[in-house]
Amino acid sequence: MSSKMSAEKQGDILCFFINGKKVTENNADPETTLLSFLREKLRLTGTKYGCGGGGCGACTVMLSRLQPATRTITHYSVNACLLPLCQLHGASVTTVEGVGSTKTRLHPVQERIAKAHGTQCGFCTPGMVMSMYTLLRNRPQPTMEDITQALAGNLCRCTGYRPILDGCRTFCQEANCCRANGGEGCCLEGEQSPEEPAHEEKPRLFDTEEFLPLDPTQELIFPPELILMAEAPNPKTLTFRGERSSWVSPSSLEELLQLKARNPDAPLVVGNSNVGPDMKFKGVLHPLLISPTRVTELFEVTRTPQGVWVGAGCSLTEVRSLLDKLLPQLEQEQTGLLRALSRQLGTLGSQQIRNVASLGGNIVTAYPNSDLNPLLAAGNCKVSLLSAAGGRRELPLNQDFFVSFGKTLLKPEEVLVSVFIPFSRKGEFFGAFRQAPRKESSLSTVTSGMRVFFSEGSRVVQDVSIYYGGMGPTTVGATKTCAAIVSRPWDDETLSRAYDVLLDELVLPLSAPGGKVEFRRSLTLSFLFQFHLEVLQNLKEMVKYARQTLPCLIHLSCESYTAPLCVQHVITEEIPEKMQPLPREIHPGLQEFQHVSKDQSDQDPVGRPIMHRSALSHATGEAVYCDDLPATEGELFLALVTSSRAHAKITALDASEALRLPGVVDVITARDVPGRKTRKMSGYEEELLADGEVSCVGQLLCAVVADSRLHAKRGAAAVRVSYEDLPDPVFTSEEAVEKESFFEPRRTIERGDVTKAFGSVDQVHEGELRIGGQEHFYMETQSMLVVPVGEETEFNAYVSTQFPTLMQAAIAETLSIPSNRVTCHVRRIGGAFGGKVVKTAVLACITAVAAWKTNRAVRCVLERGEDMLISGARHPVLGKYKVGFMNDGRIVAADFHYYANAGNMVDESVLVVEKFLLHFDNAYNIPNLRGHAAACRTNLPSNTAFRGFGVPQSLLVVENMVEDVAALLRRPADQIREINMYRGPSVTQYKLEFSPENLRRCWEECKLRSEHAARRRAADQFNRENRWRKRGVAMVPIKYGIAFSEGFLNQAAALVHIYKDGSVLVSHGGTEMGQGLHTKMQQVASRELRVPAAKVYISETSTNTVPNASPSAASCGTDANGMAVQNACQILYQRLEPIRLRNPEGSWESWVQAAFLEKISLSATGFYKGPDLYMDWVKMEGRPYAYFTFGVCCCEVELDCLTGDYRTLRADIVVDIGRSVNPSVDIGQIEGAFMQGLGLYTLEELKFSPSGLLYTRGPSQYKIPAVCDVPLRFNVYLLPDSSNPHAIYSSKGIGEPVLFLGSAAFFAIKDAVAAARSDSGLVGPFSLNSPATPERACLACASPFTQKIPASKPGSFKPWALNI
Ligand SMILES: Cc1cc2nc3c(=O)[nH]c(=O)nc-3n(C[C@H](O)[C@H](O)[C@H](O)COP(=O)(O)OP(=O)(O)OC[C@H]3O[C@@H](n4cnc5c(N)ncnc54)[C@H](O)[C@@H]3O)c2cc1C
Ligand code: FES
Ligand code: FES
Repeated sequence: MSSKMSAEKQGDILCFFINGKKVTENNADPETTLLSFLREKLRLTGTKYGCGGGGCGACTVMLSRLQPATRTITHYSVNACLLPLCQLHGASVTTVEGVGSTKTRLHPVQERIAKAHGTQCGFCTPGMVMSMYTLLRNRPQPTMEDITQALAGNLCRCTGYRPILDGCRTFCQEANCCRANGGEGCCLEGEQSPEEPAHEEKPRLFDTEEFLPLDPTQELIFPPELILMAEAPNPKTLTFRGERSSWVSPSSLEELLQLKARNPDAPLVVGNSNVGPDMKFKGVLHPLLISPTRVTELFEVTRTPQGVWVGAGCSLTEVRSLLDKLLPQLEQEQTGLLRALSRQLGTLGSQQIRNVASLGGNIVTAYPNSDLNPLLAAGNCKVSLLSAAGGRRELPLNQDFFVSFGKTLLKPEEVLVSVFIPFSRKGEFFGAFRQAPRKESSLSTVTSGMRVFFSEGSRVVQDVSIYYGGMGPTTVGATKTCAAIVSRPWDDETLSRAYDVLLDELVLPLSAPGGKVEFRRSLTLSFLFQFHLEVLQNLKEMVKYARQTLPCLIHLSCESYTAPLCVQHVITEEIPEKMQPLPREIHPGLQEFQHVSKDQSDQDPVGRPIMHRSALSHATGEAVYCDDLPATEGELFLALVTSSRAHAKITALDASEALRLPGVVDVITARDVPGRKTRKMSGYEEELLADGEVSCVGQLLCAVVADSRLHAKRGAAAVRVSYEDLPDPVFTSEEAVEKESFFEPRRTIERGDVTKAFGSVDQVHEGELRIGGQEHFYMETQSMLVVPVGEETEFNAYVSTQFPTLMQAAIAETLSIPSNRVTCHVRRIGGAFGGKVVKTAVLACITAVAAWKTNRAVRCVLERGEDMLISGARHPVLGKYKVGFMNDGRIVAADFHYYANAGNMVDESVLVVEKFLLHFDNAYNIPNLRGHAAACRTNLPSNTAFRGFGVPQSLLVVENMVEDVAALLRRPADQIREINMYRGPSVTQYKLEFSPENLRRCWEECKLRSEHAARRRAADQFNRENRWRKRGVAMVPIKYGIAFSEGFLNQAAALVHIYKDGSVLVSHGGTEMGQGLHTKMQQVASRELRVPAAKVYISETSTNTVPNASPSAASCGTDANGMAVQNACQILYQRLEPIRLRNPEGSWESWVQAAFLEKISLSATGFYKGPDLYMDWVKMEGRPYAYFTFGVCCCEVELDCLTGDYRTLRADIVVDIGRSVNPSVDIGQIEGAFMQGLGLYTLEELKFSPSGLLYTRGPSQYKIPAVCDVPLRFNVYLLPDSSNPHAIYSSKGIGEPVLFLGSAAFFAIKDAVAAARSDSGLVGPFSLNSPATPERACLACASPFTQKIPASKPGSFKPWALNI
């Protein structure tokens, strides 16, 4: 902004409302988002930070504005992380705190999501509540489709979404749910199991009858003051000034044009969905931002006979609703483009994005993957541009408009005022296509808009235009292809020539950014093919219509129709069936568990589906996470500086510029560490901060501490680091094997004599499988706050961690102080999944050094991108196998080699690879079984523990081997599984005896419950009838060992206090990260003390109440801590025994009072000494597990072979969990783990650049399952009549095992692919690596379109991404 302008005018006062209260801000900073304002300034911490880029929905709030033209108030959900504070003038914001609270009144949305068990860690819950709340403000009786759309942009990493949807489903009116779509029975009633007699009442997870009714009259009204503001005459220009930039919001078009003329480089900020992320993630600084949202011309809509002019400032939601409103007002033939646009808009981004992103912004951003531009271009749309000097001009939105990446013909001083969308003509047909890594809320891989025009009754093409996005740096037109089609009849011959032309015309270099080159090219063909089918259908319709109206003069025999319009003249060949979209209606599933015994007291909560004890606090935003802790006086923020090289010497680290920046207080390097500068893991020393050399991109170099987040981040960006590259970085497992780069020890195990057995089998087969890594994507990023107490070097560390003891010990070592000076506190964790142990300790140590050095509280909260870069992931694995089997299906010998890509530091990698070999028998008794496992040392960021700890990778290779055997024998894979499954008294490869009876029971039960045989037949039938759609069915078992193999970790302690008023405070060593551990401990204490659960409170986990606790991991948190809590409570109960006997009619409170007066201690510690487990790798035997949890999943998918998109039609899971302590919590763990597994095996892809940089550093690039991925029928059954003598109340650990069952979706996709291949004449085993993304599935189908793409020669080019 010119200095002249700044001198002209002082900043205005920003005025808006939050939760009904007026907010005025004198110095509104244009770089401040609503999210940081809410959290940091107003301390409204219910709205969460999950990604900062509009990709996760954790920050969703509702925005309400008065539309002056219509005098209507609109409510819409928005991402507070993208919304500039300055954009809020005159708006009313509702956050989760304004919706309801436990102190006043819960809103029905909050209540229902909580009581339907829709929260686990609760971090996503406020965002879910706000999306749903906004929907209800607009539609109090929504349909399920409305609900799934509203929640499409809200990610949850814990629940698997099913319970959230079930809670929200209760708002549907019957007419709006399944029955509206012709379903039988009502989805609101739940589903009856096929075997269950209708009269027998099954226990339910929640009771809808206790829900508060929705009463729209109770909602906050739109502030009258804002109505007056909006209607005030003579609106004036608003200016807001911040630290580095200014914001101007002109009130007229003329003023906007003048402003733009003077400041051509200043962006117009409308939805900020492009400008905002550039500022945040790319560090772009705009000295001036111009907001045109008060310029009415940009929002005007004008209808003409030829089409409609739509204001460029209209949000995509407004555009869609405008189109939908126009449709019924027009002739059907006029609506082709409008319908195609509306369809495309329905899947573009999320609802929150569409609610703010503008039509003009989408066009001007000229993003190559824009979903709109190809269609607008194909549809002959045009734009109207205005500038102060040049006046108005209209330009067609064609190929010439899009000049280069992010650039259009728009001049810098021009404003896009409106967009003309023409009505279509008779004989004009449109196609809109997109394929994205995830079906919804995901940028497309390739997108396309197509148009063809026929003169009436003719199949000869008069005009055609075809545009693609995702095929280069701009939206591209396939002009040569169009030329090959025009003036020819629309038939197979023309189209097959067009495919060849298209293939030549749209060539992508093999190293093209974004990769997926073969897939993208094949999509261009398959989209055209789909358009071909659609057009044939349309032609058929057109002719049908013509037949009804006009007689033929040639074909007297053909019922006298006019010649050129006669069906024989237009279309002679058989029309293929129309491609239907994949099914998407999510039905309520079954969740079956056992009733508690009739004799159990009503007060005893064990075995009952008790709601998560914090669910209501989650839903109201009152639950306090680490970063919600209020800042203390003088608190500093820490930001990290990381390596940009994979393998290099650090030649200089210059922090001088950073230290000069405003607010920067200090820079912490390795030299500042007063104690141990390393952490020891598996015999290796790991540096906290690199000193001299780096071994991966993302390695921690130093940290900047400053008085605010923003200042610390700016400081970190200003640190200059020079490197000297070292030779030969190692990235892939193959490279590591070649260079013998391993973390030792490598492990081997063998039962039987594998080598000998290979000599006596009927067939031998060799195969391999790659499994990609997986980002934890806990919704709460790594967060910590270290506070010096002020004397005797004592510290309080508030850390989001699964292992407080490790934090305490690591901080003490690093600071060279005794552990008794450090207390680690953990109230709750917003998801962890194994990722908040080792790396968290490193970050906590660095933060503690900063707190020690500055003697001030220091907070460190990682941005999503940093978290993904720094904190490691699940290990990618390369698995190779050789299997020997008999022709009757018996697998006699198998030899496996596993290579895990461990990254640059050992972390827990050696333990992870051990787990490969402790589980690789899975459910099968293979008499001769050998495995080798190695952790490869590479120059990628070090990987770490992740739910399942290596088992999900290990078993996928095993099951893939089983599938290969089945394919070779041409038998269904489930038969091979059955033949080889353990039966009778059995022994594992490490010589542990066990009974597989419940594994077999799960298998049989799953077959029955899933109606496996019938569905298999139906899928085969479906596959015979469909060429481009295939269904696949797969059934997968798991046997999962529970407890820590390192025996000493199997211990736990608890501390229970009873206070004089009878209330009970329980502390134990486990942490609450969403898995419901505290809820279960509350249940245990309630049962043991015979008091209502409401009397029992758990505040936090801390090292000063329970010392030396083991991590909350390995699925044994309830087993171990439950025993410790039980022990403490039993001790206390016994102490009260004499008093109770003396006064049996007394109340709990009276006994407690009496005990106090009699000087009986009301505090006890409990301890659990768990089993002495071990594994002797030399002898290859041991007892590494206390027991096994068993489970089986049957999955069915439908695959679109042309795009690789798939939908899980149904998943049935049967799990042996003994006797569940809390069925709602356990079913939640099962569903959540399954969905995480589904993500691992079918969706989530980590991509690294050839120089080792992680590309996928946020939800825009890395896709975890969203609502659109929930199986359409999702049934969970807890195996009845099972018990377990090794864990509390006969329960079993369940946190991890079911994750592997997500592989049933992988194998179902593989099954569907096999059916497609068989149509192409391909049979037998084939390679499909994990995850089975649409790209991999589509290419594996080997359709005529994928086969047209010339195969690339490995080694002949540098791929965009590494194949690690
Ligand atoms: C999480 C996420 C998901 C997304 N998913 C998709 C998707 O699936 N498909 C898709 O196509 N897009 C997607 N997008 C992109 C999104 O649609 C665009 O960012 C959006 O349309 C841009 O509009 P805006 O109003 O937010 O632009 P802003 O960020 O406000 O502005 C963007 C640019 O446009 C210019 N500009 C805006 N309006 C005008 C005007 N009237 N005249 C001149 N210049 C103007 C500005 O100067 C600026 O340079 C996604 C974005 C995000 C953040
Ligand atoms: S934090 Fe705003 S969408 Fe993720
Ligand atoms: S409950 Fe949804 S992210 Fe944890």
